[in-house]
Amino acid sequence: MKQQLEQIKNQAIEELKSAADLKAVDDVRVKYLGKKGELTAILKQMGGLSPEERPIVGQLANKIRAEIEETLTETLATLKDKETEQRLAAETLDITMPGKKTAEGGLHPLSIVLDDMIDIFRSMGFDIVDGPEVETDYYNFEALNVPADHPARDMQDTFYLAEGLLLRTQTSAAQIRTMETRKPPIRILCPGRVYRADEVDATHSPVFHQIEGLVVDKGITMCDLKGVLEQFAREIYGPETKVKFRPSFFPFTEPSVEVDVSCSECGGVGCRVCKGSGWIEILGAGMVHPRVLSACGIDPEEYSGFAFGIGLDRITTTRYKISDIRNLFENDLRFLEQF
Ligand code: PHE
Repeated sequence: MKQQLEQIKNQAIEELKSAADLKAVDDVRVKYLGKKGELTAILKQMGGLSPEERPIVGQLANKIRAEIEETLTETLATLKDKETEQRLAAETLDITMPGKKTAEGGLHPLSIVLDDMIDIFRSMGFDIVDGPEVETDYYNFEALNVPADHPARDMQDTFYLAEGLLLRTQTSAAQIRTMETRKPPIRILCPGRVYRADEVDATHSPVFHQIEGLVVDKGITMCDLKGVLEQFAREIYGPETKVKFRPSFFPFTEPSVEVDVSCSECGGVGCRVCKGSGWIEILGAGMVHPRVLSACGIDPEEYSGFAFGIGLDRITTTRYKISDIRNLFENDLRFLEQF
């Protein structure tokens, strides 16, 4: 029996030495030390030994088991090291290889300019609000003092939808929605897309962007309107910018103005950007018509306000000297990557 044990030990150690991988090592473990392994089988026969022999053989068996286990652990460790070494060798990085350039996303020029404008008006205490692009006739026209037969409707060629709905032609609809839900003092800015059935050319697009502003409080005057818009123009175009208020007409403001700024490109001399005039028209504005206030349940005897609608596309094309407005909508990466 002692001989058998010695033999098992030698065999096991021999096999471990020639084991090529982790799997082979485990096979050896099962073959000798496993429940049905050879060493276990021998131990099961110990019952047949005399009481004097039993502890001696038992001790020997334990020693042999320990020796096999030790060799097994050592072999495992060596094989694992070898494997790691091989893997690392196969994985070597060539740090002299050139890197791959990942394309970085950027903001659309309209978003850049809009963010700047939002910053300017926020610093003057305006809240940013949102409004639907699909509007009812009431919010887009009726409540803005443009009744059904009013000639002013022809100023804006409207895309009509089913069930009396339309695509808003102006962000001014947000004035009404705001005044219906908020009490004065009101100071909001509503940027968004607007739609008009215009012929497409370098300066016209059926979808474009406006930024509506509305201020309503006690004692608001035309001076407040001028002050806010002059401040805005200087911040967006530079401190030397001159601002010109021309009388105009909008059904929902009285009096109404259109606002030009001196051309930031030529300083007012006349150039390609301002089409030789020295001025760039950027917005329409005026004092909120008393009828509009009344329609929203605000007493025009107690409150007054001003509103303005800025053309975001115009501000963007003049700032970046973009000669064709269609560039803003076509999403050509060669164009967009310049910003
Ligand atoms: N909604 C007008 C337009 O689209 C602009 C405007 C807004 C004028 C607010 C006055 C007050 O032309």
